[in-house]
Amino acid sequence: MSDLLVVAIDGPAGAGKSTVGRAVAARLDLAYLDTGAMYRGVTFGVLRRGLDPGDVESVARVAAAIDIRLAGEGITVDGVDASIEIRGREVTSAVSAVAANSSVRTELVRRQREWVIAHGGAVVEGRDIGSVVFPDAPLKLYITASARVRAERRVAEIGGDVDEVEASIIERDRKDSTRDDSPLTEASGSIVVDTSGLSIDEVVEQILRLLPDDQS
Ligand code: DC
Repeated sequence: MSDLLVVAIDGPAGAGKSTVGRAVAARLDLAYLDTGAMYRGVTFGVLRRGLDPGDVESVARVAAAIDIRLAGEGITVDGVDASIEIRGREVTSAVSAVAANSSVRTELVRRQREWVIAHGGAVVEGRDIGSVVFPDAPLKLYITASARVRAERRVAEIGGDVDEVEASIIERDRKDSTRDDSPLTEASGSIVVDTSGLSIDEVVEQILRLLPDDQS
């Protein structure tokens, strides 16, 4: 796996990982894998079956059997287009419980590695990419921004109240960084990129300059 170019991007929700990661992937002509969409896809499947996202055994069975296909920014789950629903409120509020399930994580990590190998390398975004999924990636980034800035960006995109969105971002960070299995954390060897005062282009240029010489 060592000759694969993998750019691992971790960091909290709303820091700009997706926008920046997709732009970096396009510049490097690499595939892009949004692993959060996979956790959301499993959550969608769990809710669609009427199961409790906290039911560890049933959710593990769903993760083992579910068919998830990612194409561009779209996703199908068991053949159903779930691109819109996975970003909705229902899935968003249930996904932390599903992502805390160790059997789900084991299964999705396996699928993520397979996907990246099948695509000949990728920019991979998530919470545990540099720590668990690809600890040997040649470039590991931890992209972050203050909770306030992240809330302001989200409100500019989809509306809402900045204080409320900020509170929900802080709560989701807390859940993601305190769970027992693969908590959100800066992986060893990862470079912290704070996007708070920067434009997307500035961040992308900064990242491209960090690539090992033989891979840029
Ligand atoms: O990046 P996102 O908001 O779409 O992620 C959805 C949820 O999945 C969020 O609670 C964090 C979790 N997640 C994770 O635990 N590990 C990953 N590699 C990616 C996402």
